[in-house]
Amino acid sequence: MSITNRASITQPHFRVPGARSPGPPSHSDPRIAFFNHHAPTWEKDGEDTAQVLQRLESLRPRLGLQPGQDLLELGCGTGRLTQWLADSVRPGRVIAADFSPEMLAQAQARNVDAEFWLMDICAAPPARELFDVVFCFNAFPHFRDKPQALRGVSQLLKPGGRLIILHLAGSAHLNHFHSQLAHPVCHDLMPTREEWPGLLGGAQMELQSFTDEVELFLLSALARKTGACADSA
Ligand SMILES: C[S@@+](CC[C@H](N)C(=O)[O-])C[C@H]1O[C@@H](n2cnc3c(N)ncnc32)[C@H](O)[C@@H]1O
Repeated sequence: MSITNRASITQPHFRVPGARSPGPPSHSDPRIAFFNHHAPTWEKDGEDTAQVLQRLESLRPRLGLQPGQDLLELGCGTGRLTQWLADSVRPGRVIAADFSPEMLAQAQARNVDAEFWLMDICAAPPARELFDVVFCFNAFPHFRDKPQALRGVSQLLKPGGRLIILHLAGSAHLNHFHSQLAHPVCHDLMPTREEWPGLLGGAQMELQSFTDEVELFLLSALARKTGACADSA
C-alpha cells in the first residue's frame, strides 16, 4: 500500500505552500533560523551535488534501497538527493522532511516525485509505522535531542524497518568541522561508537552495521519487530 493511501496522516496544516506539516511546529530551536538563512546558498556553498550523487551511486550496494520501499528522507534540506532516492525505491514513495521552511521550499521547487513534510523529528511524530526506510544524510548531528529523534524515527518505521545514517566523512572529521562553525551548530556532534547501542536501544532499535572511516560514516539500525516504541519523551 502506498503512503498516500494510509489514513494515519491526518490534520496537515501548511506553512510551506503544498507541504504537509504533520507534527507540532518547533519555534524554539535556533537551528531553524540558521538553516533558513543558509537555504538560498546551501548548494552553492556546500559539497558538489554531482560528486555526492556519484558517491551515493558507488555506495548503492551497501545501502540496501529496494524498489517498492516507502522511504522518509529525514533532514532533506534543499532536496538535492530526493530524486535519486525516489528513483531508487519507485514504485515505493519518498516523503522528504525538514523543519526549516526555507530548505523545504527549495526542495519542493524541484518538482521531484515526492511528498514534503515540514516536520521536527525531535517533536512527537504524528504517525507510526509508515516507512520501510528512514534515510538521514548529513543531518543527524544537528538533531538537538538525539534520544527523542531516534524515538521519533522508531515510531515512523514499520517493525523491522531500517534507519540509515550516512555521511561522506567520518565522525572525527564531522565533529571537527562542526566545532569550527558558529552558534547554534558548533556543538552538533555525532555520538561515539560506544553511545550508539544505548541510544538505539532506548528507541526500540538495534544496531545492524556501523562504519566510521575517514571518508564514510554509515550506520544501519533496525526497528524491533515487536512494534514501534511509545511516543513519550
Ligand atoms: C546539514 S543539512 C543537510 C541537508 C541535506 N540532507 C543535504 O545533504 O543537503 C541538515 C538538515 O537537517 C535539518 N534538521 C535539523 N534538525 C532537524 C529536526 N529536528 N527535524 C527535522 N529536520 C532537521 C536542517 O533544517 C537541515 O536542512
